[in-house]
Amino acid sequence: MDIESNIRLTDEDVDKALKDVTSSKQLQEVKMSFLGKTGRVSELMKHMREVAAEKKREIGQLLNDLRARTEEKFNALNDKLKKKELEERYAAETVDITMPGRKSESGSFHPNTLIRDELVSIFSGMGFEVFEGPEIENEYYNFTALNTPADHPARDMQDTFYLAPGLLLRTQTSAGQIRVMESKKPPIKILSPGKVYRSDDDATHSPMFSQMEGLVVDKGITLCDLKGMLDEFAKRVFGESVKTRLRPSYFPFTEPSVEVDVSCFECGGKGCRLCKGTGWIEVLGAGMVNRRVLEGCGIDPDVYSGFAFGMGIERIAMLKYGINNMKLLFEGDVRFLKQFKD
Ligand code: DAH
Repeated sequence: MDIESNIRLTDEDVDKALKDVTSSKQLQEVKMSFLGKTGRVSELMKHMREVAAEKKREIGQLLNDLRARTEEKFNALNDKLKKKELEERYAAETVDITMPGRKSESGSFHPNTLIRDELVSIFSGMGFEVFEGPEIENEYYNFTALNTPADHPARDMQDTFYLAPGLLLRTQTSAGQIRVMESKKPPIKILSPGKVYRSDDDATHSPMFSQMEGLVVDKGITLCDLKGMLDEFAKRVFGESVKTRLRPSYFPFTEPSVEVDVSCFECGGKGCRLCKGTGWIEVLGAGMVNRRVLEGCGIDPDVYSGFAFGMGIERIAMLKYGINNMKLLFEGDVRFLKQFKD
C-alpha cells in the first residue's frame, strides 16, 4: 500500500476507533495506539526514509497534517469525555441537604453523680475536704468504734452483709469518721461520699446505695453550728425559701441525735403528696459526736466537740428530681437518665 492510502486508512481507523470510546481512560489507551512511540502514526513517520526525494516535502506535510488532525480529534473527544465524567461525579456526590442528619447521642450524668457533685461543691465551699473510706470494712470501724458494740440493738437497724467473721460491707459512711479521727487531729472538717450496703430491697430501699457523710470536730462546736450549716445546705439544694427543723432521734454515735427535716419545697409547707400532708420532708440524720466516740479516737471530749451528719444520696436525688421509684436509679435506662442534665 502506498503511503498516501495508508494515511487515509489511518484517518478512517482513528474515526472508527474513537466511535467506540466511552471513557477518558479508554481514550488514553486508544491514543497511545495511534500517537504513542510505537503507535500507527509514529510508525508511518518512520516510512519517510523510503519516500523518494522529490515527494518528501509533500508526504512530510501529509504526515504532519495527519498527526495534527489526530491529536485534535483526541483532544476534542477528551474534553467532551472529561466534562461528561465530571458532571457524572457531581451528580453522584451531590449531598441531599433535605435528608435528616445522623444524630449523635450525647451522654449525661447519673442523678446520683449530679447530687454528689453538687453536695461536694456546696460543702467544699464551706471548707470541707473529701475523704473516701473503704467499702469493705471491719466491725470495729462500722460499729464498735461508733459506739455500737456487738450486743447493741442498733446493729439490728442495719441488716449487714458479712464477708467473713468481723469483716463486712460497710452499712454506713459513718465508718469513715473513725478512720479520719484516728489519723487526723482537730480541727477536722470532712465530707465522705460513698456506696453502702444493707440487706434491704423495696421501692425506697436498695441493697447498695450511696451516702454522704459529714464530720466537723473543733473547739467550741455546738448544735447551733450544725443547724446553721444545714440551713445553708437546704437552701442551696432545695431552694432559697426552704427552712430546716431538727427532731430528736437516736443514733449510737451522736448525742444528742436529730432527724433533719426541710420544709416541703413542693407545696411550701401547706401539705401535699410529696410531704404526705405534713409540710415537712425528712432528709438526713445528724447529731453531736458522742463523747465516747471522740474518746475512742484519742480526742479529748472536754476540749473538743463536733457534729456529724449523714444522708442518702439516692433519697436526695429522688426528692429533688421527683423520682418515685428508687429502682429507676439502678436500671441504667438511658431514656430515663437522659432527662437529668443539672
Ligand atoms: N449513719 C446513719 C445511717 O446510715 C446516718 C447518720 C446519722 C450519720 C447521724 C451521721 C449522724 O453522721 O450523725 O442511718
